[in-house]
Amino acid sequence: MARVWLDDVEKAFGKGVVAVKDLNLEIKDKEFMVLVGPSGCGKSTTLRMIAGLEDVTKGKVYIGDRLCNDVAPKDRNIAMVFQNYALYPHMTAYQNMSFGLKLRKYPKEEVEKRVREAAAILGIERLLARKPKELSGGERQRVAVGRAIVRKPDVFLFDEPLSNLDAKMRVQMRAEISRLHKRLQTTIIYVTHDQMEAMTMGERIAVMKDGIIQQVDAPLDLYHHPINRFVAGFIGSPSMNFVKGKLIGEDGLTFQAKSFKAGLPRLLAQKVESFLGKKVTFGLRPEEIYPVDIPYPIEEGARIKVKVDVVEPIGNEMFLYLRAGEDQLVARMSSDVKMRVGEETEIILAMRKAHFFDCQSEKNITL
Ligand SMILES: Nc1ncnc2c1ncn2[C@@H]1O[C@H](COP(=O)(O)OP(=O)(O)O)[C@@H](O)[C@H]1O
Ligand SMILES: [Mg+2]
Repeated sequence: MARVWLDDVEKAFGKGVVAVKDLNLEIKDKEFMVLVGPSGCGKSTTLRMIAGLEDVTKGKVYIGDRLCNDVAPKDRNIAMVFQNYALYPHMTAYQNMSFGLKLRKYPKEEVEKRVREAAAILGIERLLARKPKELSGGERQRVAVGRAIVRKPDVFLFDEPLSNLDAKMRVQMRAEISRLHKRLQTTIIYVTHDQMEAMTMGERIAVMKDGIIQQVDAPLDLYHHPINRFVAGFIGSPSMNFVKGKLIGEDGLTFQAKSFKAGLPRLLAQKVESFLGKKVTFGLRPEEIYPVDIPYPIEEGARIKVKVDVVEPIGNEMFLYLRAGEDQLVARMSSDVKMRVGEETEIILAMRKAHFFDCQSEKNITL
């Protein structure tokens, strides 16, 4: 059990590449923290610095209360699980799981006890005699997790552990790892590029871009209060709609896009008053766009004319690609709503839920 504290950490590779910058992050004892961001944003580098596989260029890495900058990886009492499992192909699942303990000269009975325990937790007892090639992807991943569990580490580090699995197995393993965390009560730092994985698994999520943490928050706080346009667009699928335009003084305050206008409710208008006359980016999540012909729960909506470009049914819901003149919007509605491709119709933008972003700094000005 341990907290992990990254104090003003930086990592540069050679002169040119700064992979991680100004990293200040405290992962609490027993917390499930997810690092999420696009490929190349510095997630693995961050994890490898915690593991001791990379030196830090600047700053301090604490595990527990111990400054670990100069502590060898094997002495940090952490266990890491990788995307490619990194199992030894010539060893059985049992041997793979026990190997690290044997190297550390644990007594045979203790090794056996720990492997059996871990196998029971992961439901892989009957697979222990098999070699990796005789296991499915999901089973291999469980063995790799088992190998980490037997170490009884203070901290688990996961680097995109589910990326090699098919979609269904990913969803299943996601839940398994969450359950595992509840059961083991150990600090977990979990890296993924998949925002859905981050949202469903993390107690808190750190969103990274270009080596810099943008925001650290609980999943729904990120979703509802994104600090900038990047976080707003990265979290949520389909992505938040963004439309560039201007705030004008009409009926209080109104957003003027190229091809539509939408009045702001008073509370929202008060927050962005100082941007009157300025260019801003309007942001609205797809589920905050409603059809006009069914009762909808928003009093403060803006009605606009659109043409339906594409309809994507996904079962209970559908995604609608709409065009308002030159501006495009994606809506997410119940598939009971009747909308046909090519149809001209009206929709309602739930302006109460709108965000506005400063065009220069990209900061959310409605927080
Ligand atoms: N050993 C290395 N030498 C030089 N550049 C590296 C090295 N490892 C990573 N990088 C660079 O650092 C940045 C962050 O990489 P990484 O942490 O692997 O990103 P992520 O895991 O988020 O995809 C990338 O631009 C990558 O090319
Ligand atoms: Mg990576």
